Amino acid sequence: MAERDSWWKGAVIYQLIPRSYSDGNGDGVGDLQGLSSRLSYLRWLGVDAIWLTPIYPSPLQDGGYDITDFENIHPELGDLSSFHRLLTSAHSAGIKVILDLVLNHTSHLHPWFQRARWAPKGSQERNVYVWSDDPHRYADAPVLFRKFESSNWEWDEVAQQYYLHRFLRHQPDLNYENPWVQDQMLGVVDFWLERGVDGFRLDAVPFLFEAEGNRCEGLPETHAFLKKVRKRVDESCKDVLLLAEAIQPVEEAAPYLEDDELHGAFNFALTAHLFAAVASGSCQRLTRCLQEAQNVVPGCRWALPLRNHDELWLGDGHLVPEDVIQSIRAGLHQSHGHWLNWGVNRRLAPLLNGDPRANRLLHALLYSLPGMPCLYYGDELGMGDWPGLRDRDPNRTPMAWTPARNGGFSSAPDPLLVLPPITAPGYDYRVVNVEVQKELPGSLLNWHRRMLTCRRLLPALRFGDFDLLESSHPSVIVYSRCSETMMVLVAANLSAAGASLRLDLSKWKGARTREVLWGCEYPAADENWFVYLPAYGFSWWLVGEVEDSVDQNVPLKNLNN
Ligand code: NOJ
Repeated sequence: MAERDSWWKGAVIYQLIPRSYSDGNGDGVGDLQGLSSRLSYLRWLGVDAIWLTPIYPSPLQDGGYDITDFENIHPELGDLSSFHRLLTSAHSAGIKVILDLVLNHTSHLHPWFQRARWAPKGSQERNVYVWSDDPHRYADAPVLFRKFESSNWEWDEVAQQYYLHRFLRHQPDLNYENPWVQDQMLGVVDFWLERGVDGFRLDAVPFLFEAEGNRCEGLPETHAFLKKVRKRVDESCKDVLLLAEAIQPVEEAAPYLEDDELHGAFNFALTAHLFAAVASGSCQRLTRCLQEAQNVVPGCRWALPLRNHDELWLGDGHLVPEDVIQSIRAGLHQSHGHWLNWGVNRRLAPLLNGDPRANRLLHALLYSLPGMPCLYYGDELGMGDWPGLRDRDPNRTPMAWTPARNGGFSSAPDPLLVLPPITAPGYDYRVVNVEVQKELPGSLLNWHRRMLTCRRLLPALRFGDFDLLESSHPSVIVYSRCSETMMVLVAANLSAAGASLRLDLSKWKGARTREVLWGCEYPAADENWFVYLPAYGFSWWLVGEVEDSVDQNVPLKNLNN
């Protein structure tokens, strides 16, 4: 399938946690039936795909990333039939469905692990996981969940050996040296392909294989296995997206994006640089990161998240330099005191100190940069969080649908709810919810919808070439997106003060310029083109005429009616 034809090229992905999205059967837990009933909202909003965090049977010691059966649905969410109904309805609504696929580990309650611990040492069954008599093996691999674990090894009384777990002790790592493990996991891929899913978000891909003397991330054997996954997907002849979660710097995440490996990877370094730019009011480092991402992988294969169901991962200086982390710590006041393992455990709105201008600005960048923008459920409303909850639960609370009880998420009595809905000052679900914001033309929700409409109408934003332009102001980033038919110019002011600047548009001298969102005409392009951007302001302009269009104003007309 030619990349340009693939559904995911430039698609907008909406991430949601099914347990927290919508409760269809009134038991207090979101489910697939509830989600199906919200597809009309997602279609109205204008996203192309939904990514569901794990929906498999699980004891939920790590939000479902601890799986006991890869080929089934958690009973609280539904069953394979309700999944089939969801998929069919999503497809009829023109929405693709991406599943989380956890290759690296299982739950310790998975039958494979229970069998392994009782099996003789060194046997095929024991070796489905990674065992050792020495808890100092692979000592250079960092402990990832350092708030909860102090070692990557856990002693097992039954097995009388240590087992490896790169995440929680309830999540033993599978042993990919064992061909049986590889076959089983490829079988899992086949199982969901046959059911018609449109993509997989591959969880924790760097950690599949281990070796002494390094961080055990992205080893050659890991890439070789991922190529097998790709082959399986290609053999199915379906247009299925493989998207890597590798929290690594651009140059280490890029190797997953090979023609015979994965289609996309999250650019988590860019996420950190976006926050650092807002926090510091300077976009020099952000510009460099963008340039680097383009040099490494031209075209759009990066998935661009702002927030997700995890902490805002900043790392130990490996993902982004220490001074970038420091500028986030210094500039985003509501991040103070909310550090979990390696980053900030807050939702987008509070992280941005409750400023909707910053929400708009960062999403305006996401929606116009090359790649696949990822919108985290609730961020389209500026939903808040519950900082007192355990682990990453502060960011995983129920979606706010209406001002009614429980935010319209569930009809169950409060104590049964999966997590408490937000009633924090400034973020109360009685005000911050879909129903209320739909009715307010100037709401954040209606703004997101409008931006997504623009993006759909302007193919340059999805497929166009990306070029950074010279900016005469340190807080303003300027770039162009050019396709065969149109050119869109973007400028964004990352600072809390207004900025006026001169742009050199001599390359397009004399061309008509129109602001996209509201259709306002600007002076024709020339070498001294002056613009003013308010605090956290941004603009998208159409430069020149839209080629091959009967009516030159078609995109703008569609937006403005
Ligand atoms: C990454 C997931 O996003 C996170 O939520 C999970 O805890 C780890 N992988 C382990 O599966």
